[in-house]
Amino acid sequence: MPTDAPSDAFVRAMPKVELHLHIEGTLEPATMLALAERNRVALPWADVDALRAAYAFVDLQSFLDVYYAGASALQHAEDFHDLAWAWCERAAADNVQHAEIFFDPQTHTDRGIALDVVVEGLVAALARARTELGLTAALIPCFLRHLSGEAATATYLDCRRLGSHFAAFGLDSSERDRPPRLFADVFARLRADGFRAVAHAGEEGPPAYITEALDVLKVARIDHGVRCLEDPDLVRRLARDAIPLTVCPLSNVRLRVFDRIEDHNLRALLDAGLVATVNSDDPAYFGGYMSDNFLAVTHGLGLDHAALRRLGEHGIAASFADAARKAELGAALQAHFAAAHD
Ligand code: ADE
Ligand code: ZN
Repeated sequence: MPTDAPSDAFVRAMPKVELHLHIEGTLEPATMLALAERNRVALPWADVDALRAAYAFVDLQSFLDVYYAGASALQHAEDFHDLAWAWCERAAADNVQHAEIFFDPQTHTDRGIALDVVVEGLVAALARARTELGLTAALIPCFLRHLSGEAATATYLDCRRLGSHFAAFGLDSSERDRPPRLFADVFARLRADGFRAVAHAGEEGPPAYITEALDVLKVARIDHGVRCLEDPDLVRRLARDAIPLTVCPLSNVRLRVFDRIEDHNLRALLDAGLVATVNSDDPAYFGGYMSDNFLAVTHGLGLDHAALRRLGEHGIAASFADAARKAELGAALQAHFAAAHD
């Protein structure tokens, strides 16, 4: 194994798995404004410069306010298709080979866009990605945690009709003072129906929310989870049970979870034996897609080939892909690192 730092080209070409991506968070500023004009949706920003000025986030909520306003530009199945297809092409350029993609049904249904319209567009793009790009992908609807548990249950019942398209259900949005237990009923119900569960926890919220997501919601993965290091017992549990964390480095810096990429705790998570993965969260808002995130931690934390390879292996292990697809992804990763010897 080479001891020198991985080259940028090597990092960009590394086969990748993306497990924490909000499709609404891939809406680039110019696309958002063009869609809003085409769909006659009024947005508070006159142009791209004004919109970009609103991206000076101070915390999660300040981002979510812009993100939900921006999502209102999406109206038709074609819009959702175009959004997802643009991401698939961008992801393929970063050699993302498998993805499990979040979307927020309530962000759309609460403004009168039927769930079927959203899913129709997204599913069409993902089917095209499989045949044209060799990129496999599944969807994960997330419940908005700033809304009620009852609203989440109603959303789940709407989603269940389309369940064959979904790899799991998730929980996202404002974390502060919104503990996972508020959603105990809907998660019990979806698990009883045989669905997997994931949840955002320990991004801004305390490590106790990670414990609660595991104990009450019985999630298979924790989205973010970076605050787990504040609780040594929790770290031991996450390591023992190999619970994956879908970490989003550039997001964490842009939302001020860490001041600088050099302060990010990804290396400490790996050193603690955790199944940490690298993901992009909302790349159009946080200044980077998958390769940008990998490059940021490679340079900022001085990661070597072995650490990168572990991150790649973790992404495959943490995914909900079937065994045959995992074997293909593993072979591609192996071939990439074998070539590093040449
Ligand atoms: N929705 C989109 N991005 C999110 C994040 N980073 N945390 C919580 N909810 C989100
Ligand atoms: Zn997220």
